[in-house]
Amino acid sequence: MTEQQQKTSDTVIPQHIAIIMDGNGRWAQQRGKTRVVGHKNGVESVRAVVSTARKQGVKALTLFAFSSENWQRPEQEVSVLMDLFMFVLTREVKKLHKNNIRFQVIGDVSRFSDKLIKKINDAEKLTENNDGMVLSIAANYGGRWDIANAAKQLALKVSENKISVDDINEKTLDQQTSLAGLPELDLLIRTGGDFRISNFLLWQAAYAEFYFTETLWPDFKEDEFIKAIECFDERERRFGQTGEQVKK
Ligand code: IPE
Ligand code: IPE
Ligand code: MG
Repeated sequence: MTEQQQKTSDTVIPQHIAIIMDGNGRWAQQRGKTRVVGHKNGVESVRAVVSTARKQGVKALTLFAFSSENWQRPEQEVSVLMDLFMFVLTREVKKLHKNNIRFQVIGDVSRFSDKLIKKINDAEKLTENNDGMVLSIAANYGGRWDIANAAKQLALKVSENKISVDDINEKTLDQQTSLAGLPELDLLIRTGGDFRISNFLLWQAAYAEFYFTETLWPDFKEDEFIKAIECFDERERRFGQTGEQVKK
């Protein structure tokens, strides 16, 4: 067990979990409904994982809500997703605050509407001092954007003579990424049956454990989430060492 993991009863709880919430469209289509019905039903799963993570003592939960590539979807679907984001934010922020959860959005929010940007800023401000858990919602997020953006921030510091080129290393680059300061990513879950990362947390996933499930996002609730956490508990994380070295 690394220092970054806690032990609650017998299960090692990952400190930082990220989820690629996939399969909403297929969930709806299987029921003869339009794709957006799947997105609406996916909201219940978001509530379930946030509350379960908090109960289990997870320190950071990062959810992929909208990728930088998702703009390529039909305009109507994108617009429903934006409205849904706005609606959920309005409805849920007080509850997050009450539960001592710090909320933040990661990604390039500049492309969102002014109204949505304001909602996001207000929610971040309201919850900024909470220390129960950090909930990061990845919206207009791409892993390559995150790394490129971090590189840009460092280049800017060099050009302003605040740091020298020799100060650029893994640690200083990490400090400029969007999840800087949070515990290392322990577990990355993808629902919906595909085995890919879809440009999510490329930098942060370096030593994360991966968990893939066929379950479509609207069906992923507390039981499924606990199953993933239990599966993590059975993994042997070697970080480059041998099995013998890590078995204490
Ligand atoms: C994930 O579900 C939600 C978003 C990408 C916003 P999808 O909408 O990708 O659902 P599928 O993968 O088409 O079933
Ligand atoms: C990844 O799902 C993005 C989110 C879950 C928000 P996608 O459905 O967009 O991924 P691809 O296109 O199948 O790789
Ligand atoms: Mg998908």
